Amino acid sequence: MAQISGSSDVPDMGRRQFMNLLTFGAVTGTALGALYPVIKYFIPPSSGGGSGGVTAKDALGNDVKVGEFIATHSAGDRVLAQGLKGDPTYLVVTEEKEIGSYGINAVCTHLGCVVPWNASENKFMCPCHGSQYDNTGKVVRGPAPLSLALAHASVTDDKVTFTTWTETDFRTGEDPWWS
Ligand code: FES
Repeated sequence: MAQISGSSDVPDMGRRQFMNLLTFGAVTGTALGALYPVIKYFIPPSSGGGSGGVTAKDALGNDVKVGEFIATHSAGDRVLAQGLKGDPTYLVVTEEKEIGSYGINAVCTHLGCVVPWNASENKFMCPCHGSQYDNTGKVVRGPAPLSLALAHASVTDDKVTFTTWTETDFRTGEDPWWS
């Protein structure tokens, strides 16, 4: 008799363990599900491109090809490209005919017009209310209250990557107002 009841207990034990396992799995799954946003919050978003920079694009939305770009522009040029957050951003062609290490955000710090480059004046001149910026984007005439924002520009594999400029603004010696 004992053997029979003993053997009939075995499947019960097995079932209980199986149910325990299911419960454990459900609890663990729920806990992981709840933790997911917390874990995600602490993982830097660089792999997702959030703060990892953007590739400079031309007016048609194609990646700027550095070799071609340099061949078709002159030393000293300031050329609009699409930059961080889609902002119009000037690429700088240096006197050595290379891409400058910084891009200049073209959005006027007064009321947000896109500021054109005036090569003959060697300045950015806003048509909306007359603000002017020197060839680095430093404000030289109001009503704009601040210089144009900067972005880092680096060249790899014939492409330009813009990244956020968080360091001191080299034009003013101050912390960047835009980050
Ligand atoms: Fe540029 Fe007003 S928006 S001067």
